[in-house]
Amino acid sequence: MSGSEVEPIVVTGATDGIGKAYAKELAKKGVNVVLISRSEDKLLEVADEIEKESKVQTKIIVADFSKGLELYDSIKTQLKDLEVGTLVNNVGMSYSFPNYLLELPDREELFMKMININVTSMTMMTSIVMPGMVERRRGAIINLSSAAGMTPTPFLTVYSACKAYVSFFTQCVDAEYNSKGIICQCVMPYFVATKMAKIRKPTLFAPSPNTYAKAALGSVGVAKITHGYWAHSLQGTVTGLIPDVVMNKIMMGILLSARKSNLKKLQRKKE
Ligand SMILES: NC(=O)c1ccc[n+]([C@@H]2O[C@H](COP(=O)([O-])OP(=O)(O)OC[C@H]3O[C@@H](n4cnc5c(N)ncnc54)[C@H](OP(=O)(O)O)[C@@H]3O)[C@@H](O)[C@H]2O)c1
Repeated sequence: MSGSEVEPIVVTGATDGIGKAYAKELAKKGVNVVLISRSEDKLLEVADEIEKESKVQTKIIVADFSKGLELYDSIKTQLKDLEVGTLVNNVGMSYSFPNYLLELPDREELFMKMININVTSMTMMTSIVMPGMVERRRGAIINLSSAAGMTPTPFLTVYSACKAYVSFFTQCVDAEYNSKGIICQCVMPYFVATKMAKIRKPTLFAPSPNTYAKAALGSVGVAKITHGYWAHSLQGTVTGLIPDVVMNKIMMGILLSARKSNLKKLQRKKE
């Protein structure tokens, strides 16, 4: 991968949603991009789209992050000749709908998948990419957490706990390595109109992934922890003014009613 003076960026979960938007936005600045996701077809499609739109080079790596440690030797080998400038740890997985911990279907398998996708991937990708950054004394690591990682979010328990890990991990790595030239940023969105959020039409409070990524990228090097987008920051400020007990009650109500309507939908499908 050559042809750009700027060190390449690596994005996980790059074939859709926020990850694809980060990749496209950075490519527009002339940065070569390494796209990592699980489906080769989609990777080839996105790589082609980015190359045509931004005249940069792309490289794709097929990896299913729901798997464990066995995945990372191959990623390490495929990245070994690159001087990565920015790593966006974006890949993530949430519940299909809010539910009680013990009512999640195939729950133990699901727990491992969620931890591998949300937690192991970020930790391992940082471990693979950061040594080169530290050697060169420059680099940025952007980790996608969630507003659900700021406040305990029942009925999304494993997701919320994983995203809290992302937040603590990011803040600790930043504290350890900031003086060695590394910026480590934690991004904590509310809703963004993506497949994961099951929102098709963007709104003011659930922006399109492109709007979101453009805004969030503007905060790199400025904010260490950010909601990434002004309307989400407003949401965060207003929510912060509501006492925790009241907020928890409101959240429980919203999540339980989402659970109920999803269960009804499932039941209707069965009948
Ligand atoms: N959207 C929101 O409202 C929201 C809110 C807060 C935080 N976030 C966080 O933002 C990040 C991106 O979310 P998003 O909404 O953009 O998600 P998304 O639209 O569902 O896209 C997820 C991306 O990750 C890839 N992916 C999923 N499972 C994978 C696996 N096992 N191995 C490799 N790649 C995999 C997907 O590939 P395929 O295309 O093959 O599925 C896709 O490229 C996540 O960390 C999420 O937790 C999102």
